[in-house]
Amino acid sequence: MPDYDAVAGLLKKHGQEHILAGYDNLSADERDQLLTACENIDFDWLEARWAEAQAAGGSAASGEIEVVPVVELPRNDADQARYAEARAIGEEQLRAGTVAAFLVAGGQGTRLGFSGPKGCFPVGPLSGRTLFQWHAEQILARSRRYGAPIPFYIMTSRDNDDDTRRFFADNGFFGLPEGDVIFFQQEMVPCLDLHGKLMLATPSTLAMNPNGHGGALSGLLRSGALDDMRRRGIEYISYFQVDNPLVTICDPVFIGLHVLAGSDMSSKVLEKNAPDERIGVVCSQNGRPAVVEYIDLDEATQKALGADGRLKFWAGSIAIHIINTKFVEQVAGGVGLPWHQSRKKVAYFDGETIVKPKRENALKFETFVFDALPFAGKTLNMEVAREHEFAPVKNAEGVDSVATSRQLLTRYFAEWLTEAGITAASPEAIEISPLYSLDAGEFRNKVTPEGFVFERFLLLG
Ligand code: UD1
Repeated sequence: MPDYDAVAGLLKKHGQEHILAGYDNLSADERDQLLTACENIDFDWLEARWAEAQAAGGSAASGEIEVVPVVELPRNDADQARYAEARAIGEEQLRAGTVAAFLVAGGQGTRLGFSGPKGCFPVGPLSGRTLFQWHAEQILARSRRYGAPIPFYIMTSRDNDDDTRRFFADNGFFGLPEGDVIFFQQEMVPCLDLHGKLMLATPSTLAMNPNGHGGALSGLLRSGALDDMRRRGIEYISYFQVDNPLVTICDPVFIGLHVLAGSDMSSKVLEKNAPDERIGVVCSQNGRPAVVEYIDLDEATQKALGADGRLKFWAGSIAIHIINTKFVEQVAGGVGLPWHQSRKKVAYFDGETIVKPKRENALKFETFVFDALPFAGKTLNMEVAREHEFAPVKNAEGVDSVATSRQLLTRYFAEWLTEAGITAASPEAIEISPLYSLDAGEFRNKVTPEGFVFERFLLLG
């Protein structure tokens, strides 16, 4: 057990001695737990965050933003030829086994109001297929198509790691080889109350949160996952978020465009559906590539129009990237990403009970993966069609909810049916497993319209 006096002295030195006020009431194990947590606090880091919070509300870079080039959706033969070339290159990489899938799933998912890991959320319009299953089946189908393994790395955090691992194990890793599913935990950082004080979550634990998806880069390095990638010959990481069942994981065209451009980190974008849509925009900031979050864009910039009458900053990032393993090494071993802070409601132990605050009472500190972009030598942005690539489940109701996601999935699969010459009277819900077909082309080759009986509901695979 750490020495009480040493830890108490350390806390006092940094004005945080209140944390030990209830120490005498704790069991021996709890005392050990609390002293160890306090001993592990990086007070220089904490004080730097508090200083930033008081100064300007965060250290994230600010400055003039400008429009950056985007490879837009193909509109003519030349664009199609470029896509075909990119696809061939991407497919070659997939066949050579140089691409890994990487899911960041360490978030707390508070907006959805779902208690388990967000990936266990049932989103399949008919089967209730979970987000994890969609992703895993897509990876399996793609690896079968190209005849090469696609290792699947999953970042969890302290609070959902056990449940996530168990869910995969209980479901036989959804058919993926167990050794190709690699979990690692991101780090946790303490939160502060609005006066700069540490908070207790329970009598013997500090209030902490995962260090943001930017923690993915240092996490890959620290956990040994990057070494594992190196051993497997992985050069490209297909990065995606847990909440979007429509994401194309290890998209050959995206990989190919990334390779052709010599990019270190590439991003998929789509046209924002409104100036205030809650997604980040790709741009350049202080002359460097960047994504600027929606909350950091003022109204005038959000609404500014380009010469073509379209939003000037139309290109919204949907948090889908290809990242070179070499670039991860460079960034994770380098100066580190800037910290962002946000005000959150954080439950705390007040000495007697656990209080669930009604208003924001705490500062949460996080890093964002897209803050690696300014460190890249080259970047590439690829436009995708919203209806083909974005159906996020973020909220319990309304915009970006499970209901909208299921509708979007049904609409997407209805397009496959139309392309295959199948008509349905009034489709209500359609769900096609990636193991049945990965894309419209595979579906068209597999089915014949004559034998297809379907009216309102269709579940395949
Ligand atoms: C995010 C992006 C936004 C983008 C949008 C697209 C940020 C700040 N914003 O918004 O630019 O347009 O998605 O859907 O990211 N995660 C971790 N560890 C953490 C925090 C998050 O692994 O510490 C993971 C989550 O599990 C999730 C993903 O990161 O898979 C996104 O996190 P979330 O907080 O939901 O981001 P959004 O605000 O939805």
